[in-house]
Amino acid sequence: MFSMRRYTIYLALAACVLFTLNYFRTEIKVASTAIPRIGSIIPTSGPKDDGKSSVEVVVPNGPFRWKDVPTRYPVTSFAAIPTAPPQKLPKVQFDFPIEETQAAATRKVRQAAVRAVFDKCWNAYRKHAWMNDELGPLSGGQKNGFGGWGANLVDNLDNLWIMGFKDQFEDAVKVAMEIDLSTATVDTINVFETTIRHLGGFLACYDLSEDKRCLTKAVEFGEMLYKAFDTPNRMPITRWKPQLSMQAQQVADETVLVAEIGSLTMEFTRLSLLTGDPKYYDAVDRITKEFAKQQTKTKLKGMWPVVVDARKQDFTQDSLFTLGAMSDSLYEYFPKMHALLGGIDPIYERMYNLSMAGAASHNLFRPMTPKNDNILVAGKSRSHHIDDPPDLEPEGQHLVCFAGGMFALGGKLFSNPAHVFIGRQLTDGCIWAYRAMPLGIMPEVFTMLPCPKPDACDWDEKLWADAVDRIDPRHEQRLPQGFTSITDSRYILRPEAIESIFVLYRITGDRGLLDTAWEMFQSITNVTTTPLANAALTDVTWSREELNKGRGIQMDSMESFWMAETLKYFWLIFGEVDVLSLDEWVFNTEAHPLKRRLPAEQGKLIV
Ligand SMILES: *[C@@H]1O[C@H](CO)[C@@H](O)[C@H](O)[C@H]1NC(C)=O
Ligand SMILES: *[C@@H]1O[C@H](CO)[C@@H](O)[C@H](O)[C@H]1NC(C)=O
Repeated sequence: MFSMRRYTIYLALAACVLFTLNYFRTEIKVASTAIPRIGSIIPTSGPKDDGKSSVEVVVPNGPFRWKDVPTRYPVTSFAAIPTAPPQKLPKVQFDFPIEETQAAATRKVRQAAVRAVFDKCWNAYRKHAWMNDELGPLSGGQKNGFGGWGANLVDNLDNLWIMGFKDQFEDAVKVAMEIDLSTATVDTINVFETTIRHLGGFLACYDLSEDKRCLTKAVEFGEMLYKAFDTPNRMPITRWKPQLSMQAQQVADETVLVAEIGSLTMEFTRLSLLTGDPKYYDAVDRITKEFAKQQTKTKLKGMWPVVVDARKQDFTQDSLFTLGAMSDSLYEYFPKMHALLGGIDPIYERMYNLSMAGAASHNLFRPMTPKNDNILVAGKSRSHHIDDPPDLEPEGQHLVCFAGGMFALGGKLFSNPAHVFIGRQLTDGCIWAYRAMPLGIMPEVFTMLPCPKPDACDWDEKLWADAVDRIDPRHEQRLPQGFTSITDSRYILRPEAIESIFVLYRITGDRGLLDTAWEMFQSITNVTTTPLANAALTDVTWSREELNKGRGIQMDSMESFWMAETLKYFWLIFGEVDVLSLDEWVFNTEAHPLKRRLPAEQGKLIV
């Protein structure tokens, strides 16, 4: 999910300020580095650097289409789209019994409350930021950090459909057709973000509604994104400059975040399946094969480091390993690709097994908590040599809360009950972190004290206090017991905790999770609600008393994943269990549901 959001963790404040300026369309227009309409650029000459390609970039008359931009490094042989008959995979969802009337009534009241929040946010977006990437929930301003291609609009087409906002859906699809890919508000496009939000959004829109216009637009985005793969080794440029790509040859970068190159698979594969054009699948299959080839050659066997070299196709050098920020969806997509394709390519199961074995042994830890909860947190490890034991950094992140759902789904699909249990413990770790905080909202990044042994984990207040002293000798932080530091105290309306709670609910049928979800929804909306919509928070370590005294913690930011993911998962968990059943659908990392390939007897659709 979102490198943009992943990066925010690491962005220095100064960079943030610059970045914010870039967010506004108007700023871009007056800036001296403004990009003219991409389509209006007539490249002066063909490639110069190595003389291997003779392609001249000529922009034809008529409306600009990315499809018409010539390829400099054409693919000579495409991997075939995987169309073998899908297998019958193990059932993912719990066999839910008939629900009691009272329980159903409570659930529906809760779902209506979620829908009302969505409705309010959508109306505010429509009124104040229509067709812009994001709404500023305090100012009513607009932000355009994703190209100015209506990120929030495209991200919510599927929600409008499933939540039954039919008129708004019609209206939104109509204007979405006007999104113009010959112009952009930023000069560098994040290929990953555009793939998961826009391409994923239009694909889900098509899979749900079968409205052909959504597929047409998905193809248009696909054609543009495919140009980022036009490099000598066909590895994509993950931070891609569309305008530059038409003027000069491009090569893949030497420093690439592993999530950004490794999680384009679901969207590109679905696009090939729906269009019959193999080029998209071929583009990502090359990357998957490279990852597979190098999986046991890294410094932590089974996993890949956060940073890889796409130019040399060397994915083994770096020493930081995590399921968290900047790596996350690489791993998340293995079981999901298996589900999407109907289990016909064993490569994803192998990659899942090996990487999760590495993560389970070296990344996960049981933290010490006052009540000795049997929970897990996914941390980070540094490893300098494949034969040395990695060093664990006991950090937790909100973002890595998706891992509970990943382990649980993988555990189901690959008949590995131990992984379903790990998924539950990881999810419980996130629930713990929500409940431990004064506002009932988990912070962005924190550290905890790992238990000496997973099964010897009695709370030791002195041990904890000593650890806090080491990190924060002057006790400047407000730390609930159990946390040893809170290194990023924001809450930016993230979805990952409710995402895993939703997946665990559908898998285990544990109704207690519905109450947990409701508690979380109330905590979040209680503090994030603004007159217009919902706002990210600067610091969730303050108490309600402080807030009541007038301390302001809201920021003028509402990332498009708030509505697209957070509210979607809240709405789904309180809905009927056969709506977007995990046995028929698989969610991309932006919560866009894509149809799984199913054997004929199991479902109507084989694509
Ligand atoms: C993956 O792990 C599961 C559960 O341990 C096992 O049954 C399966 O055979 C493994 N698959 C592969 C391809 O290694
Ligand atoms: C937030 O919670 C407090 C205390 O429970 C309650 O009084 C208040 O009305 C809530 N505010 C919102 C906006 O939900």
